[in-house]
Amino acid sequence: MKKKIVITGGAGFIGSHVVRQFVLKYPEYHIYNLDALTYAGNLENLRDIENAANYTFVKGDITDEEFIQELFQKEQFDGVIHLAAESHVDRSITDPLAFVKTNVIGTVNLLQAFKALWQDNWQDKRFYHVSTDEVYGTLGESGLFTETTSYDPNSPYSASKASSDHFVRAYGETYNMPYVISNCSNNYGPNHFPEKLIPLCIHNIIHNKPLPIYGDGKYTRDWLFVIDHARAIDDVFHKGGNTETYNIGGFNEWQNIDLVKELCKQMDQVLGRTAGESEQLITFVKDRPGHDLRYAIDATKINKELGWSPSVSFPEGLAKTIDWYMNNQEWLANVTSGAYQDYYKEQYK
Ligand code: NAD
Ligand code: TYD
Repeated sequence: MKKKIVITGGAGFIGSHVVRQFVLKYPEYHIYNLDALTYAGNLENLRDIENAANYTFVKGDITDEEFIQELFQKEQFDGVIHLAAESHVDRSITDPLAFVKTNVIGTVNLLQAFKALWQDNWQDKRFYHVSTDEVYGTLGESGLFTETTSYDPNSPYSASKASSDHFVRAYGETYNMPYVISNCSNNYGPNHFPEKLIPLCIHNIIHNKPLPIYGDGKYTRDWLFVIDHARAIDDVFHKGGNTETYNIGGFNEWQNIDLVKELCKQMDQVLGRTAGESEQLITFVKDRPGHDLRYAIDATKINKELGWSPSVSFPEGLAKTIDWYMNNQEWLANVTSGAYQDYYKEQYK
């Protein structure tokens, strides 16, 4: 009998790469993609595998307790890989409650449904919670986040993710639910919604629009190509120890301003512009409140214990990403019409 795995948030940026990886690599699994298709969810991300025999899309909201209970009872999932979330820090600053609902209550609904299904019969079952390095708060100029760094979230987004991590741990302790958690650094790559720094800048460079840099642009992030995150999720799901946490990162720190300049350089070449032309679009704007200075991951544990390391270098990943957006301008045009315009005006007014 096939194992049934439900991946939540599978129509989103990272989720779509995880769904593709699992559908193609594991014909012995049936993969259910459970997604509410919010503004960030897009079935276009999965056109190439939507007719696969071992794939089913289920439109549904993880905050709907009754629906989730019924779905789990009906399908009897053996494993959960939970990515569905409100994921954008800036939106969490204007609407924190939406983050509490999806990221906290949604996660607890899934835990409840999984518990009701298997109770004391947890053999070969697993709840995998995909989380973020932002739960650790901010680093200063030096140091790295390890799995034992204490939680110190600063934004409503990271506070909601931290809370959901705690609930997952609590279900493990209290109800013996087998779980694993990973905390990953900033991802980039194809299908990234253009509210986040890299795809927003690619979109704006193409359209000759200002590139908004918060504050002085000296904030630092550790960037990982999304397909390497999907590979890590595969490794953690299959080989990660029960009740363990794994930090995942790119060993690839960039200050925002340097990253955007590098992007401008590559885009000038791709668009046939003179060197330095796109850089003229850089505009320093009002800072994000509570802006974390620096994130950087020590990914030694996943490297040593599970043998994972990034396979795509940053120059290669960035080139692939630019290439994807240049070849998928219809995708970009579709997701930046309508509600995106209102969001953009409000955020960058
Ligand atoms: P995303 O915003 O691109 O996608 C989120 C997906 O979840 C969308 O498809 C959306 O429709 C779905 N969703 C939202 N609310 C839902 C609900 N109530 N019910 C069902 N589905 C719902 O996010 P992403 O960037 O792909 O992030 C995925 C996960 O990875 C999140 O849990 C995020 O915290 C985590 N993460 C992201 C990053 C990153 O750099 N993007 C880094 C580390 C961890
Ligand atoms: P973002 O892509 O929103 O990811 P996160 O906040 O989860 O790290 O932002 C990455 C960095 O880029 C962060 O320091 C905020 C900054 N940033 C800008 O300077 N301008 C922007 O328009 C956006 C969206 C982000």
